[in-house]
Formats: sequence, C-alpha cells, structure tokens
Amino acid sequence: MSFDRSIKIAPSILSADFANFGQEIQAIEAQGADWVHVDVMDGHFVPNLTFGPPAIKAFRPHVKTFMDVHLMIAPVDPYIQAYADAGADMIVAHVEAGPHPHRTLQAIKATGAKAGISLNPGTPANVIEHLLPLCDMVLVMSVNPGFGGQKFIPSSVDKVRQVREMIGDREIHIQVDGGVDPNTIGPLVKAGADCFVAGSAVFKGGSVDTPEVYGENIRALKAAAQAAQ
Ligand code: DX5
Ligand code: ZN
Repeated sequence: MSFDRSIKIAPSILSADFANFGQEIQAIEAQGADWVHVDVMDGHFVPNLTFGPPAIKAFRPHVKTFMDVHLMIAPVDPYIQAYADAGADMIVAHVEAGPHPHRTLQAIKATGAKAGISLNPGTPANVIEHLLPLCDMVLVMSVNPGFGGQKFIPSSVDKVRQVREMIGDREIHIQVDGGVDPNTIGPLVKAGADCFVAGSAVFKGGSVDTPEVYGENIRALKAAAQAAQ
C-alpha cells in the first residue's frame, strides 16, 4: 500500500449489526468506505468486550479494502501475533497499555502488519516522540475509548495539530476516532488528520437492507472533509 495523505473514512463495525458482520462489511465497502475499523476491547483496558482473533478471522474474507484493528487491550504484546495471523492489515496499540510501547510497535512490525500507536484523550502528544520512527499511523482518540456514540472531545483538534507538527514529512497517517461526524471532521482536517473513524455517523439510520444510507453518510463526511481542505 503506497502512502498517501488523502482523506480516508474508516467506519467502525462496533456500530454495525452484530448479527450481520459479513454483510455489513460488504455494504460499507460497496458504499465507499476506504478502510474497515475493528474495535477490539477486553473489558479491562476499556469497560467493554468485543472481538477475539477468531472474529477477525471471520471478518477477513469480507474485507476487500484494509482491515484496521484497534486494540483497546492490556497487556497487548501477548496477542499481537494472533491478530496478525487472523488477518489484520494494521494493528494499533494504545501507548497506555503497558510499560514498553516501543517493544510493542517492534512486535507489530515484525508480523508484517502496519503499526499504529493510539493516544487516549488524557495522554499528551509528546509521549510518542521516540515511537514515531516505528509508526505507520498515530491514532488520536477524540473520546474515552469503550463505546460508540459518545460526544467528541474538542481538545482533540489541538492534539492533532501537535502530532502533525511532530510528524513533519514522514509517511505517517493521523487517524481520529470517536465522535467524528460532518460537524467535527472539518477542524480535524485543517489540523492535519487524514483518516477518520466513524461508527454512529456512518451506520445511523441504515441497515444491511438499506445500505444506501451508509453511502449518504459516508459522502456527507467526505464532503465536509473536502470543504475544509
Ligand atoms: C471507541 C472506538 C471507536 C468508536 C467510534 O472506543 O474506538 O472506534 O467505535 O464510534 P463513534 O464514531 O460512534 O464515536
Ligand atoms: Zn476505534
């Protein structure tokens, strides 16, 4: 995958119909999703539980774009290989998940997957300074992780700006995750983000029987992003 900083929408299947993941993934990709964002939660690092490696394996054949796996788990190192073997294209770990994020990123890169580091809203941008050489992406959380449908945290915009400055011209994506919608995406584009996770903003009002609603929602996000460029 060659690097480009064009606007990418990565719907989070945490907001999808849990009885129809295969169809939902096919629907969002047919309706314009650039990536598929998979939220892995362990009920320890975050107060919610979602997908183990077998679920990722089941999603894999349905994903034709790029499977972006967001590990909200601690410890994370013991599970990296299993998520890579299950088919993750990108594995994102939280800098707060343990004492050795540098080693975690080394382990992700060693699997051949792209490697990302995520910052919770309370974590300052400067903690990733020495991790950037190992990163393909920095994920700035704009909600406290654990659930979809939460309110966007406005200070995330300034953190994106700080991360963009730290990155300079390195080929590192900036992804934002949580409360992204047509009203919040513009300032994030201006601040330097290029990849946008959206759960409720994509899935709201649609279903596998009415996937065109997903297309309308994705187009509304892209239009708001392009208007800010
Ligand atoms: C939250 C997850 C997000 C969430 C986004 O812990 O990491 O990906 O699913 O959902 P919305 O877009 O509805 O905030
Ligand atoms: Zn996420």
